[in-house]
Amino acid sequence: MKTLTQHNPDAVLFKPQTPLTAPRPDEVVVYWANVDEWNTSLELLSETELHRAGQYVHAHHRDRFIVRRSLLRRLLSAFLDRPAHAVSILSTAEGKPGLNPAEHPSAIQFSLSHSHGIAAFAFTAERRIGIDIEKIDPDIELLPLARQYFTAGEASYLEHLEPQARLLAFYQCWTRKEAYLKAAGIRPLNSFDTGLQTNQILDALAPEQNQRWSMHALDLPAGWAGSFVIESTDQHPIKIFGQELYPC
Ligand SMILES: CC(C)(COP(=O)(O)OP(=O)(O)OC[C@H]1O[C@@H](n2cnc3c(N)ncnc32)[C@H](O)[C@@H]1OP(=O)(O)O)[C@@H](O)C(=O)NCCC(=O)NCCS
Repeated sequence: MKTLTQHNPDAVLFKPQTPLTAPRPDEVVVYWANVDEWNTSLELLSETELHRAGQYVHAHHRDRFIVRRSLLRRLLSAFLDRPAHAVSILSTAEGKPGLNPAEHPSAIQFSLSHSHGIAAFAFTAERRIGIDIEKIDPDIELLPLARQYFTAGEASYLEHLEPQARLLAFYQCWTRKEAYLKAAGIRPLNSFDTGLQTNQILDALAPEQNQRWSMHALDLPAGWAGSFVIESTDQHPIKIFGQELYPC
C-alpha cells in the first residue's frame, strides 16, 4: 500500500488504512484537506502552475494554491501510477482542469474547489463531475443574493424558510449551482434551477441537460457546506467515498 508523507511527495496515501485507487465509473471519491496544515513545496508544479502561483499578491493565497495543486497531483499520481510532477493537467479556455488526453489515456474526471483554508477534490471516471464548497457565513445577507443570482422559484422557496433552514438551503443551492457550472459548463446562475424541492436540475438554456445530473451534499467539517453534481447514467447507482487528507 502506498502512503503519503510530507517528505516524499511521490509516495501516496493520507490515512494509513485507506488505499488510493483510481475511481471506477460507478464511484465518486471526494477528498478534502485543511491546506494550511500542509508544507508548501514547488517541486511538483508545472511551469504553468508556477506561473499562476507567481501571480498571487498575498503569500498566504499563493501557498494555498501551491498546496492544492500539489495534493491534486499526488492524488492523480496515485491513480495513474505516474510521478506527480509528470502528471499533465490542461485547462480549457473556460478554466476547467482535466488530464491531458495526449499524455494520459485515462477516463478519470475530476473537479476542485476551495473556500478559505479547505480544499476539496472529487474524482470519478467517464462521467462529468463538478464540486463546490463554501464556508458558511451565518451573517450573510442571503435574500438579496438569492434574488440576484438564483431563479425566482429558488429565491421564493428560501424566503419561506426559517432562518437556520434558510441559511443551509442557501448554501446548498449555491454550491449545487457552482458544482453544476463546473460539470456542465459556465452559464448564468439564474438560468437553471437546482431543485431545492424537486432535487432535479432544470436548465432553461440547455433543456437536453435536464434529468442528466444527480446532486449530492458533502459531509464536510462543521461550518462548511458543499455539493457535487455528477452526470447520471441508467446503468449503475454511484458509490460515494469521502476522506479527509492529513499530512503524516
Ligand atoms: C469557475 C467558478 C465556478 C469557480 O468557482 P469558485 O467558487 O469561484 O472557486 P472554487 O474554489 O470553488 O473553484 C475553483 C476551481 O474551479 C476550477 N475551475 C475553474 N474554472 C472552471 C470551469 N469553467 N469549469 C470547471 N472547473 C473550473 C479550477 O480547478 C479552480 O481551481 P484552481 O483555481 O485552483 O485551478 C466560478 O468562479 C464562476 O465562474 N462562476 C460563474 C458564475 C457566477 O457568476 N458566479 C459569481 C456570482 S457572485
